[in-house]
Amino acid sequence: MSVLPLREYPDPVLHQKCAPILKIDDALRTLASDMLETMYADRGVGLAAPQIGLSKRIIVIDAEQKEDENGHHQKGNPMCLINPEIIYKSEETIFFCEGCLSVPGQSADVERYQKIKVRYQDISGLVKEIEAEDYLAVVLQHEIDHLDGILYIDHLSRLKRNMLLKKLEKARSEQTK
Ligand code: NI
Repeated sequence: MSVLPLREYPDPVLHQKCAPILKIDDALRTLASDMLETMYADRGVGLAAPQIGLSKRIIVIDAEQKEDENGHHQKGNPMCLINPEIIYKSEETIFFCEGCLSVPGQSADVERYQKIKVRYQDISGLVKEIEAEDYLAVVLQHEIDHLDGILYIDHLSRLKRNMLLKKLEKARSEQTK
């Protein structure tokens, strides 16, 4: 397994619509474990293929990871979703403060569906469905958006988005000083 380098805004690969995955084989299974390892190494809750430069419809998430009382990271429920598709969206929406490994150090409130149902293929190719609400629903919507070239900042008003991008630019220029 290996930790892969992350792509950050404004890398064009983050703005592309990803292609469906047609073959679920050992190479894809290796990719999925590398993506999970990369996600954990960077303390992410989810990771989508464009974030490691691949325009393919695969995401990994772990919405149940924690830190124990000694501050040690503990894996929760790692999941890999291939060709995920939202097949139900609730009318009710929620606001949640989101961040993204590809927009480092920033966060903002985003409106999402409170409850969704997602159809996907698992790592052995089986078609499955998952019902998710609140936090898990937010994580899934954020990652599935990545597969359509959408970042959470694209859901913000132009004013809020520009303010956030200015802060990102400032943080980056301070880093390189
Ligand atoms: Ni993200």
